[in-house]
Amino acid sequence: CGIVGVINGATVAQQLVSGLRNLEYRGYDSAGVATHTGSGIWRHRSTGKINELEQSLASVLEDGPAGIGHTRWATHGIPSQANAHPHMSEGIAVVHNGIIENFAKLRDELQSNGACFTSETDSEVIPHLIAHYQNQGMDAIHATRAAMSRLDGQFALAVLFEDMPGTVLAARQESPLALGYNEKEALIASDMLAFAGHTDAEMHLGNGDLAIVRRDKVIILDPDFKTVDARWTENKTTGQVQCLNGHDHFMHKEIHEQPAILSDLNGHDDQWCQMMAQMPDAMVKAQHISVVACGTSYYAGMTARSWFEKYAGISISVEFASEFRYRAGAIRPGRAGLFISQSGETADTLAGLRHFNNHGCPTIAVVNVPTSAMAREAEMAVPTRAGSEIGVASTKAFTAQLATLLRLAIELGSRNGTLDTKNYRRIRREMEEMPNLVREVLSNEHIIKSVTSLLGDCTSTLFVGRGDCYPLALEGALKLKEISYIHAEGFAAGELKHGPIALIDENMPVFVLAPDTPLLVKTSSNAREIAARNGKLFVLTDDDEAAGFKGEKGVEFIKMPPCTEDQIPFVYVTALQLISYHAALDRSADVDRPRNLAKSVTVE
Ligand code: G6P
Repeated sequence: CGIVGVINGATVAQQLVSGLRNLEYRGYDSAGVATHTGSGIWRHRSTGKINELEQSLASVLEDGPAGIGHTRWATHGIPSQANAHPHMSEGIAVVHNGIIENFAKLRDELQSNGACFTSETDSEVIPHLIAHYQNQGMDAIHATRAAMSRLDGQFALAVLFEDMPGTVLAARQESPLALGYNEKEALIASDMLAFAGHTDAEMHLGNGDLAIVRRDKVIILDPDFKTVDARWTENKTTGQVQCLNGHDHFMHKEIHEQPAILSDLNGHDDQWCQMMAQMPDAMVKAQHISVVACGTSYYAGMTARSWFEKYAGISISVEFASEFRYRAGAIRPGRAGLFISQSGETADTLAGLRHFNNHGCPTIAVVNVPTSAMAREAEMAVPTRAGSEIGVASTKAFTAQLATLLRLAIELGSRNGTLDTKNYRRIRREMEEMPNLVREVLSNEHIIKSVTSLLGDCTSTLFVGRGDCYPLALEGALKLKEISYIHAEGFAAGELKHGPIALIDENMPVFVLAPDTPLLVKTSSNAREIAARNGKLFVLTDDDEAAGFKGEKGVEFIKMPPCTEDQIPFVYVTALQLISYHAALDRSADVDRPRNLAKSVTVE
């Protein structure tokens, strides 16, 4: 999941470990480092957290002038020391992100040539393959290139060779990999947040390129061994992001950053003007937009669907990226693709974007990481400006996506003539009010916390809502299961009676999203159906009287500020985030690093 490399001519272990620690937020289940001691390669791996790796390193550490490190999120093979990276063969150590799709065939071939495998991973074929080519007389660089040409799938690699003490080779195909340097060091990372604040310049390695990284020199070779100009930028990743500013967890900090982010997003008028002027005509005139995303970003797309439909008059389908590109006929002439991603690197969404690009259809990426692959590869990138999100469960990136998508919908609508000036101004005014509405929810955190504690030791929950509250119910359930491990499902409130109502009994807490809108009367009826079957109701509403349960025994209310239809998602999701956060804390869960999850999933 995370790769780091350091070459400094002195000792690297401390930098490697601190780089890995900065990548912890991406999620992992084991970690390891390999250092060149000057005379050979020394490797150390462990399951569990970086702290454990660091503690076990303290007693055995052998350090040197170059090294590589890795945090692994298990794909092939359980989390174990043997499956942790670096993998080694004949004095070659490799860390790998991605998936080698033809690993089984390669492993058979290498085994029949005498290679001895010690893990269940796909990654282990890489050092064996490089060793195989070296044994045929190739040097390290040609052997690595030859190995790369045999690998199907996606990879980012850092490779350390016993006979090259001050050099690391870095290479990528599809998966991201960046290089950085400062006065003392050359650095390699799958995400430069690893070395935030430590680089003087950074660059993203091009697809298919192989870099020979030394302390004072980087040479980049394309697949034909031609030298590629290194495009360093001084636009560096800052070092401020990883501090908690008095919060107990990054997730909490990020939930509380939302008002400031929403305020900031209300500006940038000049950039929006420029973006809209550059917007491809085919996008403005598109009859249909396919919104493609995964996870929380997918729910942002679902929430935004009604905005594009009502304000820009564009029909919208919202697609799971992992399903979309395998559906024949999903891309038609006249369609545009809108890709939503916090990281801008999620493999499924990126593949969907490339699929659209290959069909010559217009593409827009709404991304939080401006240097990401999606930002680079889409015809147009719209930044969500939430700043680095460290908590694995997405919070501020979601609300920033919503604000950006609402703005995009009204800008498109006013450009294509669907939205008149009066309504455009009304929505902008409502957007100006959002930071304060979200602040109001945050100021009630103590109430949300005490209501959440009533969940007790329940094992399963439901979230229900109608209209724009339906995707929020899905997001609320996702958030709760992600970090508290309580089973949770979201449903359209009207669909309960078609099956899920069978689950309702006195042990089933149900969160009902019930803002005062024309749909409230219908939502209330659905809540009644739950109460009639002894389900335990938690009602989020701005009007408990209208919701129809005022004063009723056993019904818990979470009072929300009154808001307009378009403000509802921002306000209600903040309450849902706090519910998950406190439910997870009540169960002593690791809120920022939930088990089994990765922040950025760069495998399909
Ligand atoms: C992972 C994360 C989720 C995220 C999803 C999509 O599963 O754990 O929080 O919503 O990926 O990520 P993206 O970066 O594309 O928004």
